[in-house]
Parts: sequence; structure tokens; C-alpha cells
Amino acid sequence: MSVRLLSVWCLLLGPLVWLGCNGSGGTSGGAPSADEIVIGHYAAMSGAQATFGQSTDNGIRLALEEINAAGGVNGKKLRLITYDDKGDTKEAGAAVTRLITRDKVVAVLGEVASSLSLAGAPVCQEHGVPMITPSSTNPQVTQVGDKIFRVCFIDPFQGYVTAKYIRELPTPVSRVAILYDQANAYSVGLAQEFEKALTRLGGTITTRQTYSEGDQDFSAQLTAIRGSNPEMVFIPGYYSDVGNIALQARKLGITVPLFGGDGWTSPRLTEIAGSALEGCFFSEHYSQEDPNPKIQNFVRKYAEKYGSKPDGLAALGYDAARLLADAMTRARSLSGDDLAAAIAATRDFDGVTGTFSIDADRNAVKPAVILKIVNGQVRYEATVTPESP
Ligand code: PHE
Repeated sequence: MSVRLLSVWCLLLGPLVWLGCNGSGGTSGGAPSADEIVIGHYAAMSGAQATFGQSTDNGIRLALEEINAAGGVNGKKLRLITYDDKGDTKEAGAAVTRLITRDKVVAVLGEVASSLSLAGAPVCQEHGVPMITPSSTNPQVTQVGDKIFRVCFIDPFQGYVTAKYIRELPTPVSRVAILYDQANAYSVGLAQEFEKALTRLGGTITTRQTYSEGDQDFSAQLTAIRGSNPEMVFIPGYYSDVGNIALQARKLGITVPLFGGDGWTSPRLTEIAGSALEGCFFSEHYSQEDPNPKIQNFVRKYAEKYGSKPDGLAALGYDAARLLADAMTRARSLSGDDLAAAIAATRDFDGVTGTFSIDADRNAVKPAVILKIVNGQVRYEATVTPESP
């Protein structure tokens, strides 16, 4: 086969179907049959954000399995099609286009990363197909239009949560350095929101340093941070970079705690960082240690199916899929307009990440938790509720 033919072939194949082997819900493409409702999911199943997509997909599939076992939605079974966008914005847009135009999904779940949701959301909005991001926290995502929703809190709240937490420690923290990913909408936005909240609460920023996803050498930034003499370092990034940054920070003699946001969530975080993150903490959407029977029941069922405990992304994926199915049962039809109206009307949804309503801006209003790394384990530390900052 000539090179040219080969590349045409690759183009035709488009984003690869994620061939998971989780059984339920199915993974294959193809037009929907009369007795099923097809839902799309676009996610990073491989690459530097791989555990984001894998955990979310697991959570979604567990929810769909339960819903289908209980009879489905209005007598129809839900089928999930997941495409791997590899954490790439172009792939994310192409995956959503394919889900809508080829697979004819009635709704789209995803993405995790705000930058990727910002690539997929305009495609959903343009085609009038509702999208629910389980976990993108940048405010701009749902501002794309009236078909775009989320089941997580947003970064102005998340930034406030971490600032409030460190200001209310027994020895309040005042001087904080920030190191953020300059090419990542989430990281840039959360850095700004944290700084706003911290200065409002009486703290100061000692220095702002930047990196780009995948960088290997952080010594220039970390040397500047060390020289600014902070009491803590805020790193609103994703787990793979954060792990490397932590290792290098300790080598350079930075001993103060590092902390961050939900982007730290991954079973890989402490594998990469070893003991470099001991005593460090981050804000999250839920804790698997929550004694609430509803949450423990979810943790047990997830562990039975997948052999590991669900992280925050698995919990948000589970809630997003269940909220979507709930809206389908209330919707006048599964047209984009009717389904979006039913999602928008969701009140007091009983999720594993809390009981929450969808507000006028299509966001979820709910508490956050602080998790702390103790003996290499991620442990529950505190809950912060969304009273007005
Ligand atoms: N909130 C992050 C973003 O918007 C994504 C994320 C959510 C990552 C939860 C991990 C856990 O990019």
C-alpha cells in the first residue's frame, strides 16, 4: 500500500474506537437499533491523561449496567460508544463529530479536561446534541451554549476551597508560590481563581511560574520558587506533570507542602511521585472513604467489577450517566431540545458525589473535599461547602 493510500485509510478510520472489555453497554459503533438508546463518550483512554478517561469510562459503564439490569430507559437499553481522544484537542473534536454524525448518539458524555471539553462542546452545541461533562471545571465550558452541562463544581469555587483551607489551618498559610500549565485552560483558570481567593482572604503570591504538559525539566521554575521563600506551592496541573514536579522540587531542597486541585486525581500520582508528595493535599469531588452507605455501596460494586476503588472521576462518570438516564425518563422526547430541557430541570439529584441541582448556568452546585496524602495513601481530610465566597 502506498503511503498516500495508507494515510487516506487512517483518515477514514478517524478516532479509534476504544475496545474496552468491560462487557456491558457495548463499545462498538454503528447505527442504533429500535430497542436501544445510544450515548457517546469521548475521553483520554491513552496518553498522559489516560487514567482520567479510564476511570470515567468505568464509572459510566457501571451506571449503564445497573440501569439496563433494571429495565433500561422507557423499555430501551442504553448502549455506550467510547472514542479515545488521546488527550488531544483535535482528536476530541473529531471524536464528537463522529459520535454525532455517524453513530447518531442522543447525548455525549465527556470530556474530563476542560481544554478538551472546550473542543468538543461547540460540536455538540452546533448539532443541538446535549453534552454533559462529568468533570471539566473551567466556567467557559458550559458557556459554550444551552446544550452544554456539567455535574461538577466550577473553578471559582475550587480555587476558593483551597485558599480557604490553607488560611484556616491551625497555623494559617500566607505566602504561596504558584506553578501552572500555561497551555491548559483548567490550569490557567484555577491558578487565577486561587490567587483571587487567597488575596481576598489576606494571603500573598510570592511568584507565578509556568510549564507546559510533558515538560521534563522544571529546575528553572523551581529554583525561582525556592528563592521566593513560600510557605506552600500551589500546582493546579494534571497528575503526570505534578508527580515529576514533586520529585524535582524535593531534589532542589523545597520541603514545604505542595497542593493542587482535582487534576491530581489518579492512581498513578503517588506511583510517579513516591514519597515526594507525602503530607501534600488537593481538592476533589468526593472521597471513597465517605461512610455514607450510598457511597460505600457504590465503592463496593465498583471494586467488585474492576478490582480497584473508584476515584473522583469514576464517581463523576457514574453520576453523569445516571443523571442523563434520569433526564431521559422525564424528557418529552429524546430530541436535543427536549433532552436538554429535562437535564436543565434536574433538582436535588441524589448522586455519589453529593446531592445537587443543575443551576441556571447549567453547572452543578455542590461541596468539595480536601484529600491528603498520608503514608502514600490518599485520605479524606475535610469538606468545604459552597456558601458564597
Ligand atoms: N477539572 C479538571 C479540568 O477541568 C479535570 C479533572 C477533574 C481531572 C477531576 C481530575 C479529576 O480540566
